[in-house]
Amino acid sequence: MIISHMASIPTCRHTRRLGVDEAAIAEAAAILEAGGLVAFPTETVYGLGAHALDATAVRGIFEAKRRPADDPLIVHLASVERVADVADVNALAHRLAVRFWPGPLTLVLDKRDVVPAEVTAGLGSVAVRVPAHPVAHALLEACGLPLAAPSANLFGRPSPTRAEHVLADLDGRIDAILDGGATDVGLESTIVELTGEPPRLLRAGGVPLEAIEAALGTSLEVVSRSVDGAQLAPGMLATHYAPRTPLVLVLGQAARDRLIAEVGSAHARVGVLALEEDRAELANAAHIEVVGTWTKPDVSAKRLFDALRNLDAARLDVIYARLLADPSKGLGRALADRLRRASQQVIDTEH
Ligand code: TXA
Ligand code: MG
Repeated sequence: MIISHMASIPTCRHTRRLGVDEAAIAEAAAILEAGGLVAFPTETVYGLGAHALDATAVRGIFEAKRRPADDPLIVHLASVERVADVADVNALAHRLAVRFWPGPLTLVLDKRDVVPAEVTAGLGSVAVRVPAHPVAHALLEACGLPLAAPSANLFGRPSPTRAEHVLADLDGRIDAILDGGATDVGLESTIVELTGEPPRLLRAGGVPLEAIEAALGTSLEVVSRSVDGAQLAPGMLATHYAPRTPLVLVLGQAARDRLIAEVGSAHARVGVLALEEDRAELANAAHIEVVGTWTKPDVSAKRLFDALRNLDAARLDVIYARLLADPSKGLGRALADRLRRASQQVIDTEH
């Protein structure tokens, strides 16, 4: 019998700030067993966890995040063996699991009946992931439960990469947070759907597409988001996160020159999401967030969401950005995807 009283008062919870020692993990596990909501670090971004087989607890996640109920959740598990409790681990899934788990890869597989419709938005498939972060792993082991966990942000805000981001959005709306410092990857997991042929990439993320294709020995169908915002797959809105301040993304061969010209001639309060190599020429900006350099996408990935939150808080009229890495390979693909989704306007210097 699961007691879910904690989930019934979603917007006025006392949020316990916990460390990551053994006692903290035990306290968080007890809250989850009782149907409560706990934010915890993963190697990608912070997740907001609830007992995945307790429908009332899962509904609490949607209320706390103000997330639409038709956007399905990822179920996190301690090991590949536990994944088989909630999903059908087919041959391709097994191959990717051996190669990439624990790690920043999510697989969409046929679901088992134990998974409530609340988790999957009524779909016949379920998204599953075995996270690599030691705190996430310790929590999953301590509670012995599958944990449904979306990113621990309010719907429409950037995913949280620090405990402070989680608290800025969800303090008073969740039961506890395990503060494990800044997350390592900084972007969400790669999502691959393996329920049909061919396998499909639903979201670029922490594991590069090339590495998945190499492991499978076949290419993935890349599902692109429609420009008009229509949903192609559940939760795949064209604009997922958009800052309150309009973000203008400059693309193409002349992007760097155009970005510098736009910022140099602007009369409004302008912010820039910038690369180290552009910094000196952007002195006219009211606020600059430097995230990394073109050749080191892993560095920019770690900083991106924190930088977007800082820019959004700086009371600017407009934010400019160019791509942060080669969008056709590695983590650059996920970086470009997140920037396109954050932008209200695109200036393409080649068209
Ligand atoms: O790195 C991550 O994946 C983080 C950490 C916490 O694990 N989680 C995360 O969850 O980014 P969330 O809820 O923000 O994004 C999950 C997305 C959904 O928006 C949806 O697009 C997709 O996963 N998804 C979940 N279940 C699915 C399903 N059955 N079929 C297709 N897509 C699904
Ligand atoms: Mg999210």
